Amino acid sequence: MCGIFGCVLKYGNAAPVIHAALKRLEYRGYDSVGEATLHEGRLYMKKDQGKIDEVHKIHDLDDLPGSIGVGHTRWATHGAPLQINAHPHTDCNGQIAVVHNGIIENFSELKRELEERGHVFKSKTDTEVIVHLIEDKIKANPSVSLADAVLETLKRIDGSYAIAVISTREPNKIICARNESPLVLGINENAVYCASDIPAFLPLTNRAVIIEDGELVTLSSDGFEIRKIVDSTLVTRATKLIDWMPEMAVKRGYPHFMLKEIHEEPSCLRNTLRMQEHYLELMSSFLDRAREVFLVACGTSYHACLAASYMFSKLAFLATYPVVASEFVEQHGKSVNIDSTILAVSQSGETADTLAAVECARRRAATVLGLTNVMGSTLTRVSRVYICQQSGPEIGVAATKTFTSQLSVLSQLALRLAKKRGKISQDEMDFLEERLEKLPETVEVIIQKQEGKIKQIAKKYKDAKTFFFLGRGISTATALEGRLKLMEIAYVPAIAFPAGESKHGPISLVEPGFPVVFICPKDETRKTLVGNIMEMKARGASIIAVVEEGDEEIEKLAEDYVEVPKGIPEVLSPIAFVTPLQLLAYYMAVEKGYTPDTPRNLAKSVTVK
Ligand code: AGP
Repeated sequence: MCGIFGCVLKYGNAAPVIHAALKRLEYRGYDSVGEATLHEGRLYMKKDQGKIDEVHKIHDLDDLPGSIGVGHTRWATHGAPLQINAHPHTDCNGQIAVVHNGIIENFSELKRELEERGHVFKSKTDTEVIVHLIEDKIKANPSVSLADAVLETLKRIDGSYAIAVISTREPNKIICARNESPLVLGINENAVYCASDIPAFLPLTNRAVIIEDGELVTLSSDGFEIRKIVDSTLVTRATKLIDWMPEMAVKRGYPHFMLKEIHEEPSCLRNTLRMQEHYLELMSSFLDRAREVFLVACGTSYHACLAASYMFSKLAFLATYPVVASEFVEQHGKSVNIDSTILAVSQSGETADTLAAVECARRRAATVLGLTNVMGSTLTRVSRVYICQQSGPEIGVAATKTFTSQLSVLSQLALRLAKKRGKISQDEMDFLEERLEKLPETVEVIIQKQEGKIKQIAKKYKDAKTFFFLGRGISTATALEGRLKLMEIAYVPAIAFPAGESKHGPISLVEPGFPVVFICPKDETRKTLVGNIMEMKARGASIIAVVEEGDEEIEKLAEDYVEVPKGIPEVLSPIAFVTPLQLLAYYMAVEKGYTPDTPRNLAKSVTVK
């Protein structure tokens, strides 16, 4: 996700301070960087695509006058990673500059409205509507303060934001505000800072003020003033002393990125619900017209494809073929043709096996669609249509938040397809969309209520030699993903397969105390799954069940169980049921003294075949 920074200094140049702060936000992942400062009533700006050191070498980011300014590291969501889309963004007259982290859901309609009023947009970003809206407020009422112009602007914005705004009209102030995207102030004798994250200013001060959702802050050399956006009432907030070492600060206090990223799943799921409608519409149209659809990916992304095949089949009555990318050419290289559609799913957008499958399909004139987390990745360039899932960078090698976000986007595609094909009533559509909207909160509850119990289960089974992960129906995909997580970061050999397969061979492995993890949503498969649990129990297996809360029948059969909230529809169940498995793998790795973020032998993006 993007990083923002701003500073008001009592003395000294802002540009080098901003530059250094942006360097400390690099871990957040980015593709472009920019700064803007104010000096003697003028706005100065430098920005470009590329890493900070590269851009600095070309443009000299320290060479901007003035003791007040803002900076930004951009993780592209709307608009390719190009200089024109880098932040800061300015108004028509180049007097106001804004930097933004977040996603504006209603930017298309706001942009249309502003263009009709004569505003000229330079970029393809959603952010640019903010600065033109502020300009508009000031044009309509020249005596309005910058703070009030920003406050009124934010009342028009739907979505998430952490913004910092400067203007030649009030050259000694920064106005910043947040909704969902993080924003924190730093204070010392010489300056006041605003940033997306504490590491940006930690070497300069350990005195921080956390800004809450719906708050707007005016920064000046006198300090800061916090107001509520909804009614402008003043807010007082105590300063916190941060006792993190810089290393901890980068993980925002979490011991590992993987745990931080699991905890980020709710906000990432909210971001997937802010997808631009026309991308979903366009992609579902291509899927609707396809004669055959292959869902192609590797590893965790393949498990998302497997889950999606159940979603497309159950909701839209569309048969799709999930294929492990490294097998695609062997399996379908000769048969794929102009009537085929490939939906390639890749968090990095750079996985060699997936790109090789895509290249084979393209050579045979098939239609290629892409779902990725990285704007500007190769997959976005070779896809006819692509969707960026907007999860922000995933630092941990093990995919966690990007997996649940992939599932959310794929379920939205399946829903649109079902509607387009008339396979679902409006009531069913409304119900599933309402449940999808509720999922971020559901995952939040799971993490809050079950994390401690999962930690205990990991401790209890940390010396187990192997595990089964079993599910039926769409939960087979959840089981496969839970197995992969345990293998890749806790190095525990684990086996996953559809629970119905146990009696066809694998059950011979079971002996007393053998841990078997069952994924048990209350769906059509549950009754048969109880039978599978009984057959494992009969052979002395230790049952670990992920169940819907209050499912006493299975809870009684299990040695240990983890509960997820009631009412999760079957087709959405992997999104919630996988989180306990991700936490189980994480705590098992920690119990065994391993490094969850950087597991042995693995790379975050496998760019070799
Ligand atoms: C997942 O935890 C692994 N890191 C790995 O299986 C990964 O999912 C796979 O390499 C695919 O990566 P991609 O989504 O970037 O294509």
